[in-house]
Amino acid sequence: MIIGIGVDVVDITRIEKILQRRADLFIKKYFPCEYDNISIKPTKIAGLYAAKEAFVKAIGLGMDKTPLSKICIGYDTYGKPYIYGDLVRDNWIVHVSIAHDGGVAVAMVVIEEV
Ligand SMILES: CC(C)(COP(=O)(O)OP(=O)(O)OC[C@H]1O[C@@H](n2cnc3c(N)ncnc32)[C@H](O)[C@@H]1OP(=O)(O)O)[C@@H](O)C(=O)NCCC(=O)NCCS
Repeated sequence: MIIGIGVDVVDITRIEKILQRRADLFIKKYFPCEYDNISIKPTKIAGLYAAKEAFVKAIGLGMDKTPLSKICIGYDTYGKPYIYGDLVRDNWIVHVSIAHDGGVAVAMVVIEEV
């Protein structure tokens, strides 16, 4: 049963400006799980940020209860992203898809309970 969907769009230039000003702080604050494994490219970060916000929307409890730092994103060997971490319940399958083009990154998340 699908229990939530979420979508988010992020302006890549906005992320680029943040990274220029305080990349280290920004990455440590929002991407502690991904810190060691991601390239600090605006497009990449914008997609991951969009995926995290889409996950927050899919859960539906807001940022306070679903902080971005606790939403972890990894990639399989084919480059397909997946979401993991304490917020993901054992009986959930979390589907996530990311795309970027035309200066924006977009992500969609579907949470399925099994
Ligand atoms: C998925 C694919 C169609 C992307 O198409 P695109 O139009 O060039 O790019 P988009 O902006 O729409 O999508 C890029 C996003 O697709 C996602 N993606 C990449 N490979 C994927 C896959 N195998 N399955 C699902 N999603 C994938 C990623 O999230 C990527 O963004 P990110 O790396 O910044 O997170 C293309 O990259 C592809 O066919 N990949 C196959 C796997 C591959 O070649 N892997 C190379 C590394 S082993």
